[in-house]
Amino acid sequence: MDLFQQQWATYRAVLDHDLMEHQAMSAACGQQLRQCCAEAEAPSLVDLGCGDLALLAPLLRELPLADYTGLDLCAEVLPLAQAALEGAPYPQRWIAGDLLGWACDPGGAAVDVIHSSYAVHHLQDAEKEEWLAGCRRRIAPGGCLIWIDVFREAGESRSDYLARYGARVGSWSDLSPQQRQAVLGHIQRFDHPAERGAIESIAAAAGWSWQWAWQGRHGAEAMAVLSPV
Ligand SMILES: C[S@@+](CC[C@H](N)C(=O)[O-])C[C@H]1O[C@@H](n2cnc3c(N)ncnc32)[C@H](O)[C@@H]1O
Repeated sequence: MDLFQQQWATYRAVLDHDLMEHQAMSAACGQQLRQCCAEAEAPSLVDLGCGDLALLAPLLRELPLADYTGLDLCAEVLPLAQAALEGAPYPQRWIAGDLLGWACDPGGAAVDVIHSSYAVHHLQDAEKEEWLAGCRRRIAPGGCLIWIDVFREAGESRSDYLARYGARVGSWSDLSPQQRQAVLGHIQRFDHPAERGAIESIAAAAGWSWQWAWQGRHGAEAMAVLSPV
């Protein structure tokens, strides 16, 4: 197994054992996406950091979308995502690219639904602010941004969050010690979750109204639905 396959296999193990509550999250996300489709006839949807779509493809397949764009920094996942969504009854587009670059593209067309799950916490705080402003410019009137991610509690520092989340990963006995170590190494290097409260103010300043539509049981995973004001 190469490094990409090892990392992806570890993420799949986290999903398979529902360690980050993907089941509850995808049920809540499904409800939200169906509501978006009922309100805006045949919306266009962009999925930022789409990954391999192992979880979302069955849900996406049944939505009456105008089109779907899957974007990911890691080009290797896109053929997997494309295969997972094969046969969906609307045009699909695949982009190997950066979600911040997509949001800040001055010539980018407006879209009805922007969805992103467990990808934006890789951005630094200033980049998340730019991303929210960029997505606000690209959202069509009446559209929405569905942002699923890990978030810090209000007032919690990154180091306190990492200690708390790390202790939780230490209890993931369904993973091998090597897999737990890989997850710990990954979160220490790459995870910069937004702080609840602070990020809501930043979103408001960028012209979004914020609603927490689902919260996991651990004070980390959550889904926010942002609407343009
Ligand atoms: C934890 S996976 C989540 C995949 C999928 N959205 C899900 O919820 O199962 C994070 C994904 O975001 C992608 N990603 C991370 N940073 C990114 C960036 N700056 N731009 C685009 N994709 C990014 C990674 O390559 C990876 O596929």
